[in-house]
Parts: sequence; structure tokens; C-alpha cells
Amino acid sequence: MEATRDVRMATGNGENSYAANSRLQEKAILETRPVLHKAIEDVYTLLSARRNTMVVADLGCSSGPNTLLVVSEVMGAIRAFTRQQSEERRGVEVQFFLNDLPGNDFNLVFRSLEHYDYLGGGKEAPPYYVAGLPGSYYRKLFPCRSVHLIHSSYSLMWRSKVPEEISNSTHLNEDNIYIGRNTPFVVIKLFQEQFQKDFELFLTLRSKELVSGGRMLLTFIGRNNEDMLMHGEVSTVFELVAKSIQSLVLKGRLEKEKLDSFNLPYYAPSVKEVKELIDRNSLFDIDHIKLFESNWDPQDDSDGNVTLDCASSGVNVAKCIRAVLEPLIVDHFGEEIIEELFFDYGSIVAKHLEKAKAKYPIIVVSLKKPMH
Ligand SMILES: C[S@@+](CC[C@H](N)C(=O)[O-])C[C@H]1O[C@@H](n2cnc3c(N)ncnc32)[C@H](O)[C@@H]1O
Repeated sequence: MEATRDVRMATGNGENSYAANSRLQEKAILETRPVLHKAIEDVYTLLSARRNTMVVADLGCSSGPNTLLVVSEVMGAIRAFTRQQSEERRGVEVQFFLNDLPGNDFNLVFRSLEHYDYLGGGKEAPPYYVAGLPGSYYRKLFPCRSVHLIHSSYSLMWRSKVPEEISNSTHLNEDNIYIGRNTPFVVIKLFQEQFQKDFELFLTLRSKELVSGGRMLLTFIGRNNEDMLMHGEVSTVFELVAKSIQSLVLKGRLEKEKLDSFNLPYYAPSVKEVKELIDRNSLFDIDHIKLFESNWDPQDDSDGNVTLDCASSGVNVAKCIRAVLEPLIVDHFGEEIIEELFFDYGSIVAKHLEKAKAKYPIIVVSLKKPMH
């Protein structure tokens, strides 16, 4: 699978769209607000009276309310900071670039921009300009030293591709679609190496594009520790999707070869892996790195370790995962199985949650390009 061609969230704003099912990702944007405010303050010191345009990019912006929430959050952070500054420090203009792969529903983003007005054009809002930028962030996206702040939320666990030795079936993944309990070690290694290559490339490209002292705030799904499979982590989410596909194979609704040839271009790293790569290529200083958790059920804001209503949580998780995976699954398996697949998946997740509540580990890392 060539992720740069195939990966996209469910388009439009209907019942099964990403736009209507992205509360999980919204919570992460809100959770990282303090880190964003700190990054904006630092970026401000890079502007001068002569060069007062702040260039901000959101990579993997998708479509729906979260796309514009990021714009609002950045504008809110700028406004909060400039309120305390002298008149001349306030005169900033903001240029936003909203980036995603070409298959993203940019039309929905552009249409929603028509009605979007940060603070209703209130006097204190700095002028801002928004442009869409289709393309993979595993390629160069901006001219050298032209961007002040790069933001990316819930995207960097997507790889540039499924490793070739998996996609060409040199190594099979034992009925899994990502790293599962019986995934052979060699396959785990291939997923891991793909992450290392992609993440190093991403850091190299972004370090070229950022101005000296520029900032990067990255939030993505990770792992709690070095173990590949822990209760609640994203590997279990996909293991349960694989289980639903396997049951369709058993019912004769799908060919086994179809399952064998389906793997996700994905990898959720541990904090240690992320830190090691950043330190190894020495292009960025780590200002902040932390892991927080988010319930699998996007509608469940409670703390604690008990799922109150497993059946409804199962349905909620199924909606969330369907919005993310439906286009990839339909491309590969066809449209006919999608309802049945995610109906079964909801029940399988509900059963899993009876054992214990499940939470995604999310990594947030704030990076600074050194001044020189
Ligand atoms: C789960 S969505 C997150 C969207 C949004 N940032 C949010 O927080 O709701 C992940 C997005 O990353 C995009 N993506 C994945 N790989 C990408 C790549 N190589 N370049 C650009 N965007 C990519 C996907 O198309 C998808 O829209």
C-alpha cells in the first residue's frame, strides 16, 4: 500500500464521516493547549517590526471541525500573548497552511472556511490568511527557512507506506493488519524500521523548512513502554479489527488472501524510541515531551478503570475507527462488507472493554530548531 496515495479519512460531513466522528482527536488538541501557548510565545521572539508575518503549518489537518479548531487555537494563543504586549508587538499577520494528502476532503475545509471568522472579526484578532497545501509531509512542502511553527496532531503514526517486504508478501503477518499477538518478529522489525526511516526523514525536511529557532508541536499515538502489545494500546484496536475481518473470512464473505495482503501503514512508537531518534539526528532540541492517555471511547470523559456501558462504548469506538479506516478498507475489500464489519467490531470491542477500560497512550513533543 502506498500511503501517500491511499490514506484518507472518511470524507464529507455525513453520519460516518471523519468530520462527524473526530471527538477523540479534538480532545488531544485541547489537551495540548498549554504546550501550544508556550511555543507561540517563543515563536513571537523571532518576529521583528520588519518581518512580522508568522507562518504556521498544520500537517495532516484532515477535514471537519478539528481543522479549524487548530486555526482557532493558534489564533487564541497569539491573542492571549499579544494582549500583554506593547502596541508595536501586536502588529502580527498570520499565514496558515493546512496540509494533508491529496485525497483529503479539502473541498469541505474550503467550504467551511467561507463561514469561519475567528472571533467574528473582532478588533483584537490579528489578520490571518489560510491556504490549503496538498502533499505528503514525507516530502519537502515549504521553501527553506520560511515557517515559524509546525503543528501536527494525530497524524504522525501514519507511515509513508507499508514496508515492501510485507506488502509484497515476502513475510506474512499471520492474519493481522498491524502488529498483533502472533505477528512474527521479522514483521515487527519491518514496521519499526519504516517508522525510523519516516520519522528521521520528517525531522530532516522540517528542519530545512523552519526558520532558526522555529518550533514544532507534534502529537501522535504512541506506546506506553517497549512492549509491543499492552491492553488498551492501538495495536489492540487493530487486532480487534483483524478479528472482525477474520470472522468475515470464516463466514466465506471474504477471501483469506485479501486479509493476508492487507496491512496498515502505521506505527505507534514509545517515548524512548522518539527521543532516541530526535537525539540521534541532532536537528532539534526537545523542549517538552510527555505521554498522556485518552479513553478509547471518544464520548467517555471519565477517569478510572471501569467502562460504565461497554455496549455503547463499543459502538462509539467502532464509529471512530470506521471514520479513520473506511476508505482504506473499502479500497481493498470492497464496499459490501463495511456495515457488517463495523457492526461486528462494535460487539467485539464491547466484549474487550468488559475486561478493563482501554486507553490510548498519546505522545506530545515540542521541539525547537536551534538558533544559528
Ligand atoms: C486522524 S487524522 C487527524 C486529523 C486532524 N489533525 C485532527 O486532529 O483531527 C490524520 C490525518 O493525517 C493525514 N496524513 C497521513 N499521512 C500523511 C502524510 N504523509 N502527509 C500528509 N498528511 C497525512 C491523513 O490523511 C489524515 O487526514
